[in-house]
Amino acid sequence: MNTSMRRFAMTIGLLAAVAIAGAQGQNRKPVESTGNGPRIAPIDRQQMGTIRKESSTTGTMDTHSQASPNEVAVTHLDLDLIVSFDKQRIKGTATYSMRNHGGEMLVLDTRGLEINAVTDEAGNALQFKLQKPDSIKGSALAVMLDKATSKVAVRYSTTVNSAGLQWLAPEQNDGKTPFLYSQGQAILTRSWIPIQDSPAVRITYNARITVPAGMTAVMGALGNVQQQTPGQTVFEFKQPHAIPPYLISLAVGQLEFKKISERTGVYALPGVLPEAVTEFQDLDNMLTASEKLCGPYVWERFDVLVLPASFPFGGMENPMLTFATPTILAGDRSLVSLIIHELAHSWSGNLVTNANWNDFWLNEGWTVYLERRIVEMLYGKETAEMMTVLGFQDLKATIADMPVQHSDTGLRLHLEGRDPDDGMTDVAYERGSMVIKEIELAWGREAFDTFIPHYFKSFSFRSITTDEFILFVDTYAEANHLKKVELREMVAAVGEPRPSFKIASGSLMAIEKARIAFLTGRPLTDYGVAKWSAQERQYFLRILTEALKEEQLNIINETLKLKHSKNSEVNFEWYMLCIRNNRLSIRPELEGFLRTVGRRKFILPLYKEMFANSEWSIWAKEQYANNRARYHSITSGSVDRLLQ
Ligand code: BES
Ligand code: ZN
Repeated sequence: MNTSMRRFAMTIGLLAAVAIAGAQGQNRKPVESTGNGPRIAPIDRQQMGTIRKESSTTGTMDTHSQASPNEVAVTHLDLDLIVSFDKQRIKGTATYSMRNHGGEMLVLDTRGLEINAVTDEAGNALQFKLQKPDSIKGSALAVMLDKATSKVAVRYSTTVNSAGLQWLAPEQNDGKTPFLYSQGQAILTRSWIPIQDSPAVRITYNARITVPAGMTAVMGALGNVQQQTPGQTVFEFKQPHAIPPYLISLAVGQLEFKKISERTGVYALPGVLPEAVTEFQDLDNMLTASEKLCGPYVWERFDVLVLPASFPFGGMENPMLTFATPTILAGDRSLVSLIIHELAHSWSGNLVTNANWNDFWLNEGWTVYLERRIVEMLYGKETAEMMTVLGFQDLKATIADMPVQHSDTGLRLHLEGRDPDDGMTDVAYERGSMVIKEIELAWGREAFDTFIPHYFKSFSFRSITTDEFILFVDTYAEANHLKKVELREMVAAVGEPRPSFKIASGSLMAIEKARIAFLTGRPLTDYGVAKWSAQERQYFLRILTEALKEEQLNIINETLKLKHSKNSEVNFEWYMLCIRNNRLSIRPELEGFLRTVGRRKFILPLYKEMFANSEWSIWAKEQYANNRARYHSITSGSVDRLLQ
C-alpha cells in the first residue's frame, strides 16, 4: 500500500470508529494501525547543503513510534501541568503546534495515560480515538483535524502505569519529603506526555509546572520564573532548541541549587548538595575542554541534578540539566567521568541525534569516544586508557553472554517488535566508540579533530541514521584526500570485536602482575596498593576469577580498605567477588546496597550472579521481594525478566 492509500484507509478507519463511539457513547472499535512509523521529514536541502542532499530522501522508519510526523508533525509543545504528590499523578494540558504535510489527523504516542479531552485552540472539541494498546509502544492517539485547526490541546492525566515517572514517598527519599522524576529515554516520554515519541521528531517546548509549596520543579530547559500562591508554586520553563522528545525531563523535590560557575551548577537535596558541589568542582573545566574538542556549547547552561539513589541509570543527558545517580559521589572525584559522558552528549545525541533506536550506537559510541578524549585532556592519557581497557572487558563479557553472531552483538540493531531497552547494551557504547576511534586512527588525530566540530555543526539539531553518517564520512574523506575507512563493514560486523589497534594500559598490566603475586602469597604492598586508582582497584577485583579462600578475601578487604570505599564501581566489583566466593559476611552491607541503590548497571548483575548460585539464590529472592517496589520500573523490569 502506498502512503496516500494508507492514509485514506486510516482516515476511514478512524471516522468509522469515531462514528461508532459517538453512537454508543464510548470508544469501541480501535483504529487499524498503519504500521507506518515516523519518517524523517523530507530533507531541507538548503539547510543541509550539498552532502546531506545526496543522503536518503525516503526517510527512515522508526518502528517504536505509532505517530506519523511525515503527515502532521508537532513542532512545538506547551505544557501546563499540576503535580500532585498525594495522588501521585500529573494532570494538565499539552498543546501542540504543528506543521501539516497534508495529513487529516495528528497521531501521538501515549502509554498508560488517561486522555480526558481534545480541543482546538478555541476550545472546540475535536474527534479523537485512543487505539488499543501495544504492550511496548502503547496506544496511538489519533486526533481528527479541521482545515482551520492550527493547534491541538489534549487534557490528560498520568496513571500508575506511567512508567517514565518515578514517585518516591518520603521514606524512599530523605525520610521527610517526597520526590518525583521522569526518565524519557528510550520510549517513556509518551507515558507522561502524549507526544510523537520518536528521536526523528524534534520540538521546542514551554512548560508551566504547578507544584506544592516548598517543592522545586526543574526541567532540562531554561527556567524558573516563579509565582507563589498559598499552597503552591508555579515554575515556568522554556526549551528554545528543537530536541527529540526522549530528552524532555522533569524532577520535583525539595531541591536546592548551588552555582559552580556562570554556566554550571548543581541541584540536589540539602543533605547531598555540599558533597555534590565538591565532587563536581570541575564542571566548568569539563565544559571548556569539551568545547575545544566539539565546538561551541549551544545549550546555555550545564547543570547537574543529583537524584535519589533509586535512579535506574548512572546519568541521563537531559539538555541543560544532566540527571545523575548519587552513586558517583565517591568523595574523591574518581567517578566524574560519568558527568563528562553526559556532557559529551550535548553534541553527540542532543545536537546530532540517532534517528531511531536501531542507530543507538551513533549516540553512545560517539559519546564514549568523546568522553575518553575529554578525560585524556583533563586527567591524562593513562586514565583514559584504563577506562578503555575496562570498557573493552565489559564489551567482551556482554558479547560472550549473547547468542553467537546475534545482531545485538553488532552496531546495526534490529529492535522492531522488541523493547528498545533490550538492545541497549555495552555494544553500542564500546564497539561504537571503537569504530569512531578507527576513523581517528585512519585519518590521524589532527585531521579527525578538524572533522569533529564540522560534523556536529553540519548536523546540528538534526536526527540522522547510520547510513547518513557513513555517507558523510566517506564524502568528507574523499573531499579532503583522507583514507577511506571501511565503515560499512565495521558497522555490519557482529560477534567478536576485532579492533585494528591495540587496547592496553601500562597501569593495568602492572595490576595483572600484582594479581599473580597475590595468588602466590606475596604482599600487595610491594605493588603500591595504597596508591591504586579507582580503575586499578576495579580491575584487580575483576580479574580475580579463581576461587579464593576466606583468608585471601580478608587480605583484600584490609589492604584495599574496602570498608571505607565510597567508590560504587569498586564496591560493586567487591560484592561480585564476595558472591562468587560465597563470603556470606558481606550480606548486611550488600543488603543495604540493594535496598537503597536502583542503578540497573549494578543491581541487575548482582541479582543475576546470586540467582545462579545456590548459596545465594534464596536470600537474593527474599531481598528482591522486599525491594522490588522501591526500584524504578526500568530496573525491576530487567530483574523480572531474569526471573522468568
Ligand atoms: N543516555 C544514557 C542512558 C540511557 C541509555 C537511558 C539508554 C535510557 C536508555 C546515558 O548517557 C548513559 O550512557 N549513561 C551511563 C553512564 C555512562 C558513563 C556510560 C549509565 O547510566 O550507566
Ligand atoms: Zn550515554
